[in-house]
Amino acid sequence: MEVVILPGADAVGRLAADAVEAVLRTRERPVLGLATGSSPLATYAELRRRHREAGLSFAHATAFLLDEYVGLPAGHPQRYRAVIDAELTSRVDLHDSRVHSPDGDAADVPAACAAYEAAIAAAGGVDVQLLGIGSDGHLGFNEPGSSLASRTRIKTLTARTRADNARFFAGPDEVPHHVLTQGIGTILDARHLLLLATGEGKADAVAAAVEGPLAAACPASALQLHPHATVVLDEAAAKGLARAGYYREVYGGKPAWQGL
Ligand code: GLP
Repeated sequence: MEVVILPGADAVGRLAADAVEAVLRTRERPVLGLATGSSPLATYAELRRRHREAGLSFAHATAFLLDEYVGLPAGHPQRYRAVIDAELTSRVDLHDSRVHSPDGDAADVPAACAAYEAAIAAAGGVDVQLLGIGSDGHLGFNEPGSSLASRTRIKTLTARTRADNARFFAGPDEVPHHVLTQGIGTILDARHLLLLATGEGKADAVAAAVEGPLAAACPASALQLHPHATVVLDEAAAKGLARAGYYREVYGGKPAWQGL
């Protein structure tokens, strides 16, 4: 796992955008794994800018979202499919038919989840997966205790996650209890994992994920199993890391040819 500590959220967004741009420019059929939440917002802003000003094209890309709420009415602005459209996909040249999200309206939930897994596989798997981390260490909506081998399925949010996400809703009671999320096993199949975290509120979760034991109690610790995982942090989110000095030394002395 590589840990990169940068001065602030904009620098985190630029570095993450570099990794996404590299995939868009080198893969014939790039497959992007997109996350919602506030963590990737600077990345999406930077990608929009590069699309506008530097001709970065998403025309051949396919995108898969990590997760989706269950039961939000059609047209609700907090449906993750609506959020990603607003932040990125409708604002670049990524065709709507190639943006996929778990079907939070499905009558047959297990079938919808299996179809989602099959769609990711049919697209050739995810090249780069953007990830945030919950304050409780969740990845996607895999709450603590989630199987490290899990696939896309329904989950129940913890009270803490519902409280964390209440800021996006009219009130805490409006936050759905149920979600569909890619499993940890699904996420680990992506070829490159890019976890983004900013702000002091993430420092404990980041420390547990990066330097704590591999454990379902901290789902993001599953990144320790992945052969190509990059954790990009601002100074505040890196505050709890015991080996921060070492990570800075490694990144500072990295050969230019290596990329992220
Ligand atoms: C949310 C999302 C996750 C996200 C995480 C952190 O509930 N389901 O995909 O990474 O929690 O959110 P934020 O980036 O807003 O802090």
